[in-house]
Amino acid sequence: MNVGVLVSGRGTNLQALIDRGRAGELGPARLTVLGSNTPDCPAIARARAAGLRSFVVDHRDYSARAGFDRALLSALKSHQVDLVVLAGFMRVLGVEFLAAFPQRIINIHPALLPAFPGVHARRQALEAGVKVTGCTVHFVDGGVDTGPIIAQAAVPVHEDDDEEALRARILIEEHRILPAVVRAIAERRVVVESGKVRVLGVLA
Ligand code: GRF
Repeated sequence: MNVGVLVSGRGTNLQALIDRGRAGELGPARLTVLGSNTPDCPAIARARAAGLRSFVVDHRDYSARAGFDRALLSALKSHQVDLVVLAGFMRVLGVEFLAAFPQRIINIHPALLPAFPGVHARRQALEAGVKVTGCTVHFVDGGVDTGPIIAQAAVPVHEDDDEEALRARILIEEHRILPAVVRAIAERRVVVESGKVRVLGVLA
């Protein structure tokens, strides 16, 4: 299964996928290409260092989302991508794009959804005073951080945490569950029934 990863920035989740792939721990999943909407972001340098092909579709070059989506779609299709992984990709994808990859687009989010969707998940968790937060890998649908939940991992929130401390603790879990989900999907062990996900076997 060819995997295309979409990012907007740093790319530590991309790096986790690269590392697990190198270790032969992604099963039949093969990282095929990195796509970014941000030229010169650190994730592109990570891809280059790993010998992974990459492309940029800069959203600022498009006056409407449909054009951006179409350019992204055609780049992914030209690399024969089967599974799209949003790993810190800060754009919302339109229906046409979603329809091109039915149940083949996943996202990693730094909270235990449905709590704290959106771009300030960690800040919201701290403000709410929750004692536990975490991360979620889910299929992407038309909403923001909605869609069937595939896997979650919890982390404690400490009293003296700031956003950065919490980010680092959550990222450790992100880097564990995202590759595990990619592997399980490639092994066809992830099934959606009545809008809920069942994972056959273990996530590892
Ligand atoms: C992660 O926190 C992820 O949950 C969110 O964006 C961030 C990406 O981080 N969707 P990185 O670029 O993988 O380091």
